[in-house]
Amino acid sequence: MTIDEKNKEILQNPLSGGARIIPRITIQAFCEHSQTAQMIESLTSDRRMSRVALTTHNGGLEGAIETYKSSPTPNLIIIETSLMMEEILASLERLAEVCDTGTHLMVLGHINDVVLYRELKNFGVSEYLVLPVRAQIIVDAISEIFIAGDAEPIGRSVAFISAKGGAGSSTIAHNSAWAVAKNIMQDVLIIDMDLAFGTAGLNFNQDPSTGIADALFASETLDDVMLDRIMSKAANHVNLLTASCNLDQTYDFTERDFENVVELSQQSVPLVILDIPHIWSAWVKYTLAMADDIVIVAEPDLANLRNAKNIIDLLKSLRPSEQEPILIVNKVAIPKRPEIAPQEFANSVECKLFGEIAFDSSAFGVAANNGQMIAEIARNHKANEVFNKIGNRISGRLNNESVKGPSGLNIPNIMKILKRA
Ligand SMILES: Nc1ncnc2c1ncn2[C@@H]1O[C@H](COP(=O)(O)OP(=O)(O)OP(=O)(O)O)[C@@H](O)[C@H]1O
Ligand SMILES: [Mg+2]
Repeated sequence: MTIDEKNKEILQNPLSGGARIIPRITIQAFCEHSQTAQMIESLTSDRRMSRVALTTHNGGLEGAIETYKSSPTPNLIIIETSLMMEEILASLERLAEVCDTGTHLMVLGHINDVVLYRELKNFGVSEYLVLPVRAQIIVDAISEIFIAGDAEPIGRSVAFISAKGGAGSSTIAHNSAWAVAKNIMQDVLIIDMDLAFGTAGLNFNQDPSTGIADALFASETLDDVMLDRIMSKAANHVNLLTASCNLDQTYDFTERDFENVVELSQQSVPLVILDIPHIWSAWVKYTLAMADDIVIVAEPDLANLRNAKNIIDLLKSLRPSEQEPILIVNKVAIPKRPEIAPQEFANSVECKLFGEIAFDSSAFGVAANNGQMIAEIARNHKANEVFNKIGNRISGRLNNESVKGPSGLNIPNIMKILKRA
């Protein structure tokens, strides 16, 4: 099949187009020519792209490699290249080395060659299109990557829970979500699962008329379009499903009542933060078991230690093959309070200490009362380092903290193919 035929097939294939809106992904395009950059910019006028954050840059493949040496990669990188086949493959290897896990790649080339097309597909490149190409075909190809029947859900789910009520899991969840939105410019959805007393609305100074209750009670009729209407926007890249806090209603959920909302959210937002209240019920246990990552927030005292140990032990048995939870010891060094040292706390619960945050009634009090994040009121506050570190880990970006790992790109067999090339 020639590339033109492939392009035609994409156009005709109903799965590739349709009217489905593409999820809230981030796309960065690296172009060699200004006409290509203009064409890429015009993608945003397609309504299917209405939720996508798209930026264009100069420099083609080399520009992308330079950029991603020091910056996190988006959900999709589009590269324009006029290199020949061997050069493309060699440069892609260097790009893969600086890419974070889960990033997809689309290549726009000038060579209409089916061998190159096959090599790139084998390589793990999601799509190769020959220039000139119509904007609509690129949007079709993006749809194919992110919403076709067999596309993986784009979103990771991360559950935040406190070892004892009030330890600070909601505060840390919201600030870490903010860090992802600001540093990585990736869309985040915070689901406030504390329907009666949740603070996500207050902490972001929002009082939306719809929230998580609407999503839960819509049950079977809930779809991605409705979910999008129910979400509210707290800031650029920060979306909320807030708690109604209506106490006329009582909330007795069964084990899987949140499952549909969480799964749908993962199909439309790259990072879904589950802000779980400190209660123990079938749905909390199930939600923790299903989450991609879990953050446990504890204060350094005995009751927190006992509870954290119980939660961590349970999670190890429920999720034997998953990474251990992310342990944060919060409110450290409250004046005059006898405390367990954070490292000793971590040793006792047999979990690595991911971070510790000092008690600071002034900063956290001002932030909570103003409905602002710590980074907004105190940019250099030490707690921001922990929020950034959590953000990097849970978004799957910069997993290796500061050093980028080899081949984070969605390119499984890059070395094998390169050896063949
Ligand atoms: N490091 C800190 N220093 C001072 N105050 C803090 C700190 N972290 C959180 N707080 C404050 O502690 C209070 C409780 O925090 P938060 O609501 O996040 O707890 P939680 O763990 O979510 O509670 P629950 O488990 O009941 O949902 C808030 O007023 C918050 O501002
Ligand atoms: Mg909470």
